[in-house]
Amino acid sequence: MLCNISKINYYMNKQKVVLVLTFLVSTITIIAQINSPSAYPDRVILNLTDSPSTSVAVTWRTDVSVIEGYCEIQSASDGPVSRENSKTFKAKTTLTNHLYGEEPVLEANQHSFVLTDLTPDEKYLYRVGSGEYWSEWYEFKAPANEGKFSFIYLGDSQSDLKSQWSRVIRSAYRHAPESEFILSSGDLINRAGRDLEWHEWFYADSFIYSMIPQVMTPGNHEYKDMVLDQHWNTQFTQPTNGPKGLEGTCFVVDHNNMKFIIIDSAVESELRYEYGNKLEAQKVWLDSVLQSNAKEWVIVSTHLPFYSPKENRDNKYLRDNFQPILEKYKVDLVLSGHDHSYGRGRYTDNPENNHKVMYAVSVSGPKMYEAGDKDWMERSGAFKQLYQIITIDDNVLQFESFTAEGKLFDSFTLIK
Ligand SMILES: [Fe+2]
Repeated sequence: MLCNISKINYYMNKQKVVLVLTFLVSTITIIAQINSPSAYPDRVILNLTDSPSTSVAVTWRTDVSVIEGYCEIQSASDGPVSRENSKTFKAKTTLTNHLYGEEPVLEANQHSFVLTDLTPDEKYLYRVGSGEYWSEWYEFKAPANEGKFSFIYLGDSQSDLKSQWSRVIRSAYRHAPESEFILSSGDLINRAGRDLEWHEWFYADSFIYSMIPQVMTPGNHEYKDMVLDQHWNTQFTQPTNGPKGLEGTCFVVDHNNMKFIIIDSAVESELRYEYGNKLEAQKVWLDSVLQSNAKEWVIVSTHLPFYSPKENRDNKYLRDNFQPILEKYKVDLVLSGHDHSYGRGRYTDNPENNHKVMYAVSVSGPKMYEAGDKDWMERSGAFKQLYQIITIDDNVLQFESFTAEGKLFDSFTLIK
């Protein structure tokens, strides 16, 4: 009798193990399916080049069965679109393997191409794909190289990208659909290398990425153990005109009457790695870029803020190294993230330099910290998801910060 009971227990336990294993395997399979590529292009994204009025970079993803990618482009018309009017270009294709923890390895091909010789202020239609597998036709306007223009600036998106961040980027787009580009100032996702989070980041923005060029500053969450997330330079095609070894993470864009500079403040453990040389390389590069500057406005983006809104944070190391350069060349504005709250003000550690840069720190995702009470802030705020619209019209720069609902939260004007 006892023997029979232990046999029954044995089989019941075995059944439980089988059930649990089946559940785990099916869950992993479902997770893998959510972010898996297909032969059809997805994650189609435009990136700013170093000359946005005449060129734009396009990058997209397919499964590995698609070994070649093409981009077709033509001047915009009212339609129907005739394929014969297009020029066709072959993209560069890169095989990627993404592995994160126990999640299944995700293989994909990334295709990228820089469209050049565009006419400023002209609208285009383009699509990407190959064979039978194509995206829809997207509309894109090459920005004019003069006159008034606007762009959107977003602080950290980082978490709950699909459920809660998506409304902010969509509100910003609804508010300023003619924006010439969108800046994300770092920590786009939470865990570097995790494709599931990139899946949500792309889901949230959908066709907006395919119509308005994006420019991204890397944050500390784009690095793991001082290694840049492999997604960064395979799914984004950003300029490579910065210091060696910082391709796609530190660069300069000249647009209209503005010089726009991205500094990688997350590299080498937030520039504190004792054997690192990328801090020095960026300082030398920044000085040389600003020394030869002929543009009226200079805007810099770093993920780490020069001044923190958060009470117990202070990036003095960043200030000591970069602030004298910004002040020497009279940089106008620095756009940052990292602190999950809002702070904005003109301040300096070096009053003898006779120039105060305006610093702004913002957040677009739902992860929030308290803002402290700090001298540098002319305006602060916490527990609000925000987006900013920055408009430059000749010698006037208008900065407006809006809540996710579209209510004006802060604004200032700089006049040259
Ligand atoms: Fe951060």
